[in-house]
Amino acid sequence: MAKVYVFDHPLIQHKITYIRDKNTGTKEFRELVDEVATLMMFEITRDMPLEEVDVETPVRVAKSNVLAGKKLGIVPILRAGIGMVDGILNLIPAAKVGHVGLYRDPKTLLPVEYYVKLPPDVENRDFIVVDPMLATGGSAVAAIDSLKKRGAKHIKFMCLIAAPEGVEAMQKAHPDVDMFIAGLDEKLDEKGYIVPGLGDAGDRLFGTK
Ligand code: URA
Repeated sequence: MAKVYVFDHPLIQHKITYIRDKNTGTKEFRELVDEVATLMMFEITRDMPLEEVDVETPVRVAKSNVLAGKKLGIVPILRAGIGMVDGILNLIPAAKVGHVGLYRDPKTLLPVEYYVKLPPDVENRDFIVVDPMLATGGSAVAAIDSLKKRGAKHIKFMCLIAAPEGVEAMQKAHPDVDMFIAGLDEKLDEKGYIVPGLGDAGDRLFGTK
């Protein structure tokens, strides 16, 4: 069963409050999402493997650690996921970035893939799929299906706000994919919005309506 980590770090919780606030404008919203993505990434990378190297300090040679160079791929789900990418790259600037675009078929209501571009060496890469909102879970499940279909074996999922319905859908479809969440909310409303949530993350990030 996938693990669900809800980050209770005070800085993350503080910033999430202002992200939720309907009076937070586009510029500030974007900056806050960026900052929270950085803080979440700091926690998510806690288990990254290290290797010991010799480093010559001005005093003597020391044993010290560097990242073992595991290949990382960040995959935002279009479009709102893009808002979290720069914050992640602040910490891991060498990470490669793929994209998955999905729309909901108006008849079947099922997600349909319209764009997928992933970095090379999919089988040996650790992927973090990002989307600010995990609502019904339809897009996240489909995006991860799409990565697995192309050979991805190690995937984590990161979002700002999740509904219990989305967490359950992910656990059912992808029990191997751990989820990292800043706020676990109450429910979905009849239009599929997370309650209390933050509204439409894409519109708030890009200033559209
Ligand atoms: N997507 C959003 O942007 N907000 C929601 O509340 C649900 C899905």
